[in-house]
Amino acid sequence: MAEAIVTMDKIVSLARRRGFVFPSSEIYGGLGSTYDYGHYGVLLKNNIRSRWFEAMVQDRDDIVAIDSAVILHPRVWEASGHVGGFTDPLIDCRTCKLRFRADKLEDANCGRKPSKRPGETPECDLTEPRQFNLMFETTVGALQEEGSRAFLRPETAQGIFINFKNVLQLARRRPPFGIAQIGKSFRNEITPGNFLFRVREFEQMEMEYFVPPGEAEQWYRYWIDERLNWYLRYGLRRSRLRVREHGPEERSHYSRGTSDIEYEYPIGWSELEGVANRGDFDLTQHAQHSATKLEYVAPDGERYIPHVIEPAVSIERIVVALLVDAYDEEVVGERERTVLRLHPEMAPVTAAVLPLVGKSDEMVSKARGLYEDLRRRHSVEYDDNGAIGRRYRRQDEIGTPWAFTVDEQTLVDDTVTVRDRDSLEQERLPIGAVRDWLDDAREREWTKNGDG
Ligand code: GAP
Repeated sequence: MAEAIVTMDKIVSLARRRGFVFPSSEIYGGLGSTYDYGHYGVLLKNNIRSRWFEAMVQDRDDIVAIDSAVILHPRVWEASGHVGGFTDPLIDCRTCKLRFRADKLEDANCGRKPSKRPGETPECDLTEPRQFNLMFETTVGALQEEGSRAFLRPETAQGIFINFKNVLQLARRRPPFGIAQIGKSFRNEITPGNFLFRVREFEQMEMEYFVPPGEAEQWYRYWIDERLNWYLRYGLRRSRLRVREHGPEERSHYSRGTSDIEYEYPIGWSELEGVANRGDFDLTQHAQHSATKLEYVAPDGERYIPHVIEPAVSIERIVVALLVDAYDEEVVGERERTVLRLHPEMAPVTAAVLPLVGKSDEMVSKARGLYEDLRRRHSVEYDDNGAIGRRYRRQDEIGTPWAFTVDEQTLVDDTVTVRDRDSLEQERLPIGAVRDWLDDAREREWTKNGDG
C-alpha cells in the first residue's frame, strides 16, 4: 500500500488533538513558536531521555553524567566565544515591520498577502544586516547594575567543559572518557518555526568525549556511527537518515570537523544531530580565561590537553523525527485509521487494558486487576469509555503497541486477547501470562514495515 503523505500540519494537528504538545500561553493568545507538553508528550520525552542516557552512560564504563547550572559565570560565555560570535545577521523590513535572517532571505516570506520574498518588490524597504546575539540576557540579583548581567545558556556543552577538572579528579577518569548532560538551552532565534524544529527554549542532550589528540579523528568517526545506529535502533527509517559533512566554510569557530546526522523532515533534509570534533578549543579557552590548568597528566608524567568529540542534539528535533517517521494513515476494512508506528521503547504508552464492554462490572473488575498488575512495571493505560473500535483508534493515534482486551471468554477461562498495533493481529493468552509476555515483547527486535 502507498505510504501516507506526512506533512508538518498533520503532525502538529495530531500532537495537539492527542495531547502531546500544545501551543504555549494559548489563553493569552499564544506566544509564537513556544510549546507546552501534555501527558503523552512528557512520556515520549522521558523515553527519549532514558534511551539516550542508557546508550551514552548506563551501558558504558567511560562516560559519566553531570547537571550544571543554566546561569553560569558570564565569563564562561566570553571564553567560549558566544559573547563575541554567537550571532546571526538580521534584517528589518521598514514596510512590513518583520525581521529576517539575512543569510536565509531566499527561504523567507514577508507578512503581506500574497506573501513575497523580502526584497522582491519595490515596496520592500530592507535595512542593512546587523549582527544579533542569540543569547538571552538576564540580570542576577535585585539591581540592574554593573556586573549583574548574565545569560541563559545557549548550549549545555560549556557547563561540561568548566567541570572537566572536577570530573578528572573526582571520577578518576583518563582519556578517552566522556561527560554527558541533558538540560534546557535557550536561544533567541530570529526565525523560529516549523513546529518544534526551531524553538527558543529546547532541551539538549550533549556529550563531550575527551580523547588523546592523536585519536581525535578516529573517535569522531566512531561517534558518527554510534549516533546514527542509535536512531536506526529506535526505528527511524534508514532511507530518511543521512550523514552530511560540513565544508570548511560552514564549520563553527571551534570545529575541526562537523557532520550533521540529517533527517528528511517534511521541510526537507535538515539537521537532526551534530557531531563535532572541537579539538582543544574549549579547554584551551577556559584555561586561559580562568587561569586554571585544564590538562591531563598521565601516570608517566606525559601532559596534554585532550581533544573533544561532541555529539549534540535536542529532544525537540528527535520528537519531530520520531512522530514524522511513525505517522501513517491506512484504510482497515471500511475505516480509515491514523497510527503512530513508534518503537515500543519510545511509545508513551506500552499497552492499553480494555474491558470489551465498559458497562460490564465483571469485565471492568478483571481489566482493572490486570491494569494494576502491569502499571508498576510498564507505562499502561486503562480505558473503558466508549465503543471498543474508538478506543483502539485512540491508542493507535498515540502509538500504543499493544492492547489487552477482557471479553466474554475471559470470564470463562481467564484468557485475554492481545491486539498488535501494526499487524492488527490478535492472539489469546492467559491473563496470568500477560506480564511476562509484555516484558518479552518489549525486548523483541522491532522494525517498521517496509523499511529498507
Ligand atoms: N554544543 C554544540 C551545539 O550546541 P548546535 O548545532 O548549535 O551545536 C546542537 O546545536 C543541536 O541542538 C542541534 O543539532 C539541534 O538538534 C539542537 N538545536 C539547536 N538549536 C535548536 C533550536 N533552536 N530548536 C531546537 N533544537 C535546536
